[in-house]
Amino acid sequence: MGDGLSVFLAACRSLPTPYTPVWLMRQAGRYLPEYREVRSRHDFLTMCRTPELAAEVTVQPLRRFPLDAAIIFSDILLPLQAMGMELSFSEEEGPRLSPLRERRDVERLRPVEEADFDFLAQAIRLVCRELGDTPLIGFAGAPFTLASYAVEGGASRLYLRAKRLMWEDPGLWEELMDRLVQAVEVALAVQVRAGARAVQIFDSWAGVLSPRDYRERVLPYSRRVIEGAKRLGVPVIHFVHNGGGFLELVAETGPDVVGLDWRVGLREARKRLNGLAVQGNLDPAVLLSTPRTIEEAVRAILEEAEGRPGHVFNLGHGVLKDTPPENVAFLVEAVHRLSGR
Ligand code: CP3
Repeated sequence: MGDGLSVFLAACRSLPTPYTPVWLMRQAGRYLPEYREVRSRHDFLTMCRTPELAAEVTVQPLRRFPLDAAIIFSDILLPLQAMGMELSFSEEEGPRLSPLRERRDVERLRPVEEADFDFLAQAIRLVCRELGDTPLIGFAGAPFTLASYAVEGGASRLYLRAKRLMWEDPGLWEELMDRLVQAVEVALAVQVRAGARAVQIFDSWAGVLSPRDYRERVLPYSRRVIEGAKRLGVPVIHFVHNGGGFLELVAETGPDVVGLDWRVGLREARKRLNGLAVQGNLDPAVLLSTPRTIEEAVRAILEEAEGRPGHVFNLGHGVLKDTPPENVAFLVEAVHRLSGR
């Protein structure tokens, strides 16, 4: 198990590993000058939809750092585009979508087909050819996060429209969530068939919900997505940003690994997760600090992990745009060194 392939996948399966594997959410992105160079010539959606460009930026961080996994360059909102919603990204506001407001809008959404994600399958095949044994992670948004973007028409602070739809028209909420489950299932199947060796489901906004709303209106749909992904034969990582208030419920969605942000301690989280593997959970802001601070923070997280099987090192959210690449290099080296590589 000396190679990167089995170390990351073994940790996802809670098997012993010779050191703690590490990869970073948003490891491909604007903190890398080589990403900014490609991005200066193409807009973000063009990069996602052009297999050669998506493959190139996916591999960029692995040329610099000995990461234990890659994550395909794409976006959680592309399945909404495939369902017929108009999607654009602006520098100031982030993603914009034609919002869903009424039953008519939901009924107009179309079921996605595998062919809608041909560009993604092609990008994955290119990456796998280049990476050899390093495993590639595929991903999708969880139904709640996608629903909240779809209903709000973009990012939001309080998600009031999404919450009101969920509370006031449960029938329509169910209809929307069912359709999102279908789209996400297809997107994940395409990625695994093309070569992804694990998948991560991002629920970036479920942390705005009460445990009761999460349990009743969200958890059943996340569970369906996760069960479907497990049937594809790959480990499933479920990252619920700000999910510390209801980790026990996140465990009930049935993933192999639970992704943690930094607001919850890893030791406490593991107790509440009943032995599931964990991924995380360094505050991404630490990477704006000094090597000494980074080393102390890594040491603290590895201590909480207690050298027990079932820990994948990661940040608690994506790499921040102003992160110095040298600090990422230092982090990856420190995780490997301090965990016994
Ligand atoms: O992690 C990786 O390196 C893989 C690529 C990846 C991107 N988005 C690329 C991206 C992944 C896994 C995502 C997931 C994603 N996208 C999430 C879930 C994770 C999270 O952050 O909570 C969400 C909520 C989105 C939606 C999205 N895409 C937003 C809100 C934004 C704008 C914010 C921003 O950082 O600009 C994006 C754009 C986006 N997705 C960029 C990247 C590299 C920046 C695009 C650019 O270069 O301008």
